[in-house]
Amino acid sequence: MRRASERLSRIPPSATLGISARARELRAQGIDVVSFGAGEPDFATPEHVVAAAARACHDPENHKYTASAGLRPLREAIAEDAGRYSAVEVDWSEVMVTNGAKQAVFQAFAALIDPGDEVLLPSPHWVTYPAGIELAGGITVSVPTRIEDEFKVTVESLERARTDRTKLLVFVSPSNPTVAVYTAEEARAIGEWALANDVWVLADEIYQRLTYFTGVAPSIAAVTPRLENWVLVNGVAKTYSMTGWRVGWMVGPSDIIEAANSHQSHATGNVNNVAQHAALSALRGPQETVEEMRQAFDTRRKLMLSLVEDIPGVRCVEPQGAFYVFPDVTDAMRGRWKKTDALATAILEEAGVALVSGESFGAPGFLRLSYATGEPEIERGMARIREFLAV
Ligand SMILES: Cc1ncc(COP(=O)(O)O)c(C=O)c1O
Repeated sequence: MRRASERLSRIPPSATLGISARARELRAQGIDVVSFGAGEPDFATPEHVVAAAARACHDPENHKYTASAGLRPLREAIAEDAGRYSAVEVDWSEVMVTNGAKQAVFQAFAALIDPGDEVLLPSPHWVTYPAGIELAGGITVSVPTRIEDEFKVTVESLERARTDRTKLLVFVSPSNPTVAVYTAEEARAIGEWALANDVWVLADEIYQRLTYFTGVAPSIAAVTPRLENWVLVNGVAKTYSMTGWRVGWMVGPSDIIEAANSHQSHATGNVNNVAQHAALSALRGPQETVEEMRQAFDTRRKLMLSLVEDIPGVRCVEPQGAFYVFPDVTDAMRGRWKKTDALATAILEEAGVALVSGESFGAPGFLRLSYATGEPEIERGMARIREFLAV
């Protein structure tokens, strides 16, 4: 009899976390590694958030469980945030706090998908979605996009992929890894198509405020005044440099939140009470650091893009949001590596730069480089890659 279940054996480990772990291992051996792998801001969490957490820690009230859907003041703050940034009216009861946006993605799939349901996934896509769809018993239907179209799906491409079994569309803007941001018109057209065809939308808005041209990324939920067939996923990780605190959330119609909350009440109970207080302070407190970090990322974005474009044989769209570049390196590989998986491993082991291969995102021929690191590191790492590819 097999040891690990058949279901879990089909799920590969997260490639992005795998790269970070290998980079840490090499560093522990004294090897100098530049990290473009991790999808996490390198800034410290804002001081007022840390102070709020320290205060919360000293109050024995916060040493206890919370309601499984989260602290009510935090759910209220999240509901207000959804109104402010996603332009949709949300009641606090339509919010569930989760262990990071990652868990919200899993909870949303679990709450919406029945076995055999089809989920439209614009591709290239973040590594976690297919795993969540598979575990919920759904079938991933990739909707391919092209670099020439800035990696965006359209109503036409979605309609071609839709069948009677289509339950859900995963809509990510800004996207990881493609860094595409949909305009308000594009988001609206897709939202109206979803509504008209009774397709649910899981909108992952984790990079919503990290954009470089549009202000806050237009939300697909803005199509209707109230939550209709939208489930919004977001969190404090990227906006407030709080990846390790593990606070995210899922916003959706109350019946879906109730279903997800029953699941969560058994699976994790609740999110760390103190971390919820920290998240509340992030949402309610001063917002200047959000803009300061965005500006720092913008400077790094320009630097990284110019250095990537400088490498012969590399094609890259200008990143509109998040903190990645996603170049097509097919020509630069000149047949020397069969897959970008092999190229990424060689760059890490031989040139000492951690980055993620396109295969992990359903995009062979591409690499994802994160510029959530200082400018000297960006220059050092890019010089190494350039030299490595030139040989
Ligand atoms: C598109 C997207 N959604 C969700 C997450 C997960 O965020 P969290 O750290 O809150 O789980 C990430 C993290 O890389 C991401 O890129």
